[in-house]
Amino acid sequence: MKIGFIGLGFVGLSTAAAFASKDIKVFGYDNDSKKLELISRGLVPFYEPSLQDLLKKSISSGFFKICYSLEELILQTDAVFIAVGTPSNNDGSINLSYVFGAAESIAEAIRKTRHAPTIVVKSTVTPGTAKQIKQLIIASAGEDHISVCSNPEFLREGSAVQDTLNPHLVVIGCDDDFGQATLLKAFYEGLYSEKKIPIMITTTSTAEMIKYTNNAFLATKISFINTIANICQRIEGCDVETVAQAIGMDPRIGPLFLRAGAGYGGSCFPKDVKALISFSESRRYNPLILSSVDTTNRLQPFEVTALVEKIFRNISRIKIAVLGLAFKKDTDDLREAVSIPIVNTLIDREAIVRVYDPKAMTNAKGIFGARVTFCNSALECISGTECCIILTDWEEFKQLRPEDFKKNMSRPIVIDSRRVFDAPKFEKVVEFHAIGRGQPKAQNKNL
Ligand code: UDX
Repeated sequence: MKIGFIGLGFVGLSTAAAFASKDIKVFGYDNDSKKLELISRGLVPFYEPSLQDLLKKSISSGFFKICYSLEELILQTDAVFIAVGTPSNNDGSINLSYVFGAAESIAEAIRKTRHAPTIVVKSTVTPGTAKQIKQLIIASAGEDHISVCSNPEFLREGSAVQDTLNPHLVVIGCDDDFGQATLLKAFYEGLYSEKKIPIMITTTSTAEMIKYTNNAFLATKISFINTIANICQRIEGCDVETVAQAIGMDPRIGPLFLRAGAGYGGSCFPKDVKALISFSESRRYNPLILSSVDTTNRLQPFEVTALVEKIFRNISRIKIAVLGLAFKKDTDDLREAVSIPIVNTLIDREAIVRVYDPKAMTNAKGIFGARVTFCNSALECISGTECCIILTDWEEFKQLRPEDFKKNMSRPIVIDSRRVFDAPKFEKVVEFHAIGRGQPKAQNKNL
């Protein structure tokens, strides 16, 4: 089966390169010609571990071909995956203009080539969208036999390739023509032949809803544990990490996605929770739990700035180091990163802010400009500062010892908002505060 990808962003490019690495013929198209040119030379336009190598190999092996027109792609493929972005509108609702734009272009290419591959919607879209895409293509291409399936992805940034090659589940949504679902199922069975990956066949609306429910549930777990963290933090000697570890042992709860922190960010959770709220409201249902998840997350970064202000009272002219700007480790992505409201608040309060991130510095320069000092290493960043806030759980930061802070900072106050450090060890050497950790009685403020 020959597969085409329309949209070579994070999802499209990672999935295409992963498929090509398994000797599947893949064709890629994006309407950003600069991006296409980079990819054709084997260069990934963003940071994603192991993708660079994989892309280079699949371009040179010939399994991944770049197409410079949609007709070229449509003509050569049996199935075309739509993987374009679905950003938020200002009111939180989903903006489907890129998806419908891609559908219009596909219809035009089908009309010109008289070749109609199966259309597979990978982009995260609200329930009913695949059906609308089908109607649009039928009307515009003048073809009756168009099959549109839904095939949501569950990839995480930072492990996109691994997640594509080892998914926990494949969901295929198909409404009328179950022949197409069988075709896709056979494709995935071939791809994952050595592994036993469950494959679910559903309607397109159910498949679309599965994706939103998945992300909304994970976001709920995070906002839930952050709420508990904020309570724990106000109880002497109480620690959310131990609470999370204990409840995670209950098989009905499970241990994952219970890491308390400064809130969730990235290109999916914030956008998808908002889109589901808006979609639900458009159906005249007020999803109270989702609104609370979203509000809790919007406020969570300010738990961190409140902690800084509680320690210093007035942070004007206080030198603060921020370690980690990306929304999570192993990515250079700052979309909805909690570093943005946190750093902006510190700047508004006239703190002198120094920042460092192993991969996200270029993107961060576009956001913070000259308002912060960009440093070349973690040690350079903390040097001479009176407070250090950890905002991303990069492995590099986990290697820092409490002595590094004590030696390099002018006043060693460490705020661990991602729970990367061993709290009892740090508390012996520096003034240590962490999200979800109530201060032990004997915290030595004179260290
Ligand atoms: C997420 C989903 O995991 C993935 O299945 C979907 O396809 C896209 O959205 P991603 O955004 O790449 O993936 O990252 P993820 O690892 O899920 O983390 C999202 C955010 O939640 C990050 O800001 C992370 O720091 C935060 N998080 C995650 C927590 O605060 N606590 C946790 O326990 C887990």
